[in-house]
Amino acid sequence: MQRLRRLRRNMAFRELVAETSVKPRGLILPVFVCEGQGLKQPVPSMPGVFRYSVDRLEEIADAVRRSGIGGMMLFGVPDHKDETGSGACSDDGVVQRALRFLRAYLKRTGAEFLLIADVCLCEYTSHGHCGVLCDGDVDNDRSLPLHAAAALSCVKAGADMVAPSSMMDGVVAAIRAVLDENGFENTPIMGYSAKFASAFYGPFRDAADSAPQSGDRKGYQMDYRNGREALREADTDMEEGADIVMVKPGLAYLDVLSRVAQISDRPVAVYNVSGEYSMVKAAAQAGWIDEKAIVAEELTAFFRAGADIVITYHALDYVKWTEGKE
Ligand code: PBG
Repeated sequence: MQRLRRLRRNMAFRELVAETSVKPRGLILPVFVCEGQGLKQPVPSMPGVFRYSVDRLEEIADAVRRSGIGGMMLFGVPDHKDETGSGACSDDGVVQRALRFLRAYLKRTGAEFLLIADVCLCEYTSHGHCGVLCDGDVDNDRSLPLHAAAALSCVKAGADMVAPSSMMDGVVAAIRAVLDENGFENTPIMGYSAKFASAFYGPFRDAADSAPQSGDRKGYQMDYRNGREALREADTDMEEGADIVMVKPGLAYLDVLSRVAQISDRPVAVYNVSGEYSMVKAAAQAGWIDEKAIVAEELTAFFRAGADIVITYHALDYVKWTEGKE
């Protein structure tokens, strides 16, 4: 008989042979930044997640610093929206102001976590699509310079890295070119390489007020029936110069994550998205699952499947629960 239970007999054996661990430095917390002052607004569909006005960011920055996670990824919730999402590339936009505030915070405190800017237009366009519309369709090539300008503006404001999430073809190359032309050749790009058109983004669209006013995102985000195509997306982003590739969402796409991790010669990130978070929260609030155990199991699964980086709304909770760090 093969006695596989021998090495499971006690904690010391299990720890000795454990293949995977969750590293706090590999966790990134998404943060929503809104206009206004003194605001910390709860997101109803995401218990424990808030929208912060720039002047209230210190609180979350302190929590990120104390926890020792890798950094935060910023999403803007602007008041003003228009057809072309011009707010995304305004040097005075909400994310740009947040970045300047946080850059100063890092300098003042000596903290070393990363500031990552999500680059997309959907929070800034009146129609809620991720690019500019032409005859009701998102015009890929006309959208590229807008994404590039948004990325440049975020980097100038203090972003350590930009993460284009629009799934426009060529967006990584367009951003790389503009950053290089402006002397930011050392700023990395994390591509949302295999981002699927997914119902798991529902709560995020509440939080960021970014739901499309008409239609859906199936004309640019990936079809969830396709795995092989995700490899092509990752390859294309790498050819265009992505330093990190991402798979999104996470839990229903562990097969895709694993395949991308096998072919990628760069670090691989996974985005544990809003719907995944909200399902855990709802079931935990109902008393149906053990939240801490579920979160540990999920985050471990991402690393086991091949992720180097996990973007998750659970980041601070996870570290608090496992290491007693606030
Ligand atoms: C913007 C963007 C979305 C998410 C991250 N960036 C929403 C979307 O594509 O509709 C989703 C994140 C989440 O659900 O947590 N393009």
